[in-house]
Amino acid sequence: MLELKNVSAGYGPLQILWGISLKVETGEFVSMVGPNGAGKTTCLKSIAGMLDVTEGEVIFKDAVINKMQTSDITSLGLSFVTEEGCLFTGMTVAENLDLGAFILSDKKKIKELQDNIFDLFPRLAERKKQLAGTLSGGERKMLSIARGLMSNPSILMVDEPSLGLAPNLVDSVFDALITLNKKGVTILLVEQNVHTTLEITDRTYVIEQGHICLQGLSSEMLDNEHVKSCYLGIV
Ligand SMILES: Nc1ncnc2c1ncn2[C@@H]1O[C@H](COP(=O)(O)OP(=O)(O)OP(=O)(O)O)[C@@H](O)[C@H]1O
Ligand SMILES: [Mg+2]
Repeated sequence: MLELKNVSAGYGPLQILWGISLKVETGEFVSMVGPNGAGKTTCLKSIAGMLDVTEGEVIFKDAVINKMQTSDITSLGLSFVTEEGCLFTGMTVAENLDLGAFILSDKKKIKELQDNIFDLFPRLAERKKQLAGTLSGGERKMLSIARGLMSNPSILMVDEPSLGLAPNLVDSVFDALITLNKKGVTILLVEQNVHTTLEITDRTYVIEQGHICLQGLSSEMLDNEHVKSCYLGIV
């Protein structure tokens, strides 16, 4: 579904990604982990068309997308939930969800997506008319993911959904991602919470200093010496 071939990218003259190659197959739940500043967010941004790819190619559903606008990439079926979430704080939960469906015109489909989202996040259903700016941190995270789902994506990229959440909310956000993946949504997840991430995903890429330094089945990564000492605190 998604493939990066030797992708380099950065900010102006500052190169951050150095020849990243990775693949996400249809239906997979893939994660990317790595230390702060390694280039994880930069990688997601370059996939979503928010940064110039200076070398290599990003291929999504057989189309080369690295010269495309973000909104066109969203229309192709790729949704990116950023760390900040990008909610409209002065608008209600329901209005934010409607905005997430901007590429769709079929009212019945939009209603069906919204119903599914309220099943997945009952807390949001109870707060339809509440302003997004008055939601708790956890509820905002849920709304950000929910908004990302309103474009009915084939692949959802989520950056650090657990950041700043209390453990019980972290669990409910991860549970929602597991449920979505079981329903057929392909997911590329970036997370600091490495142990849980390795437990819930199929495959993982470890990125360090803009390079993929390790990749494989998440279950096997749990036994990898480098992963154990650098990310799981096991010596
Ligand atoms: N807009 C920007 N302009 C210049 N440098 C940037 C910009 N955004 C990020 N960087 C730099 O790019 C590098 C990679 O940042 P990135 O946000 O991709 O890291 P990350 O792996 O997502 O880290 P974290 O785990 O802290 O979120 C960092 O050194 C960062 O300072
Ligand atoms: Mg980041």
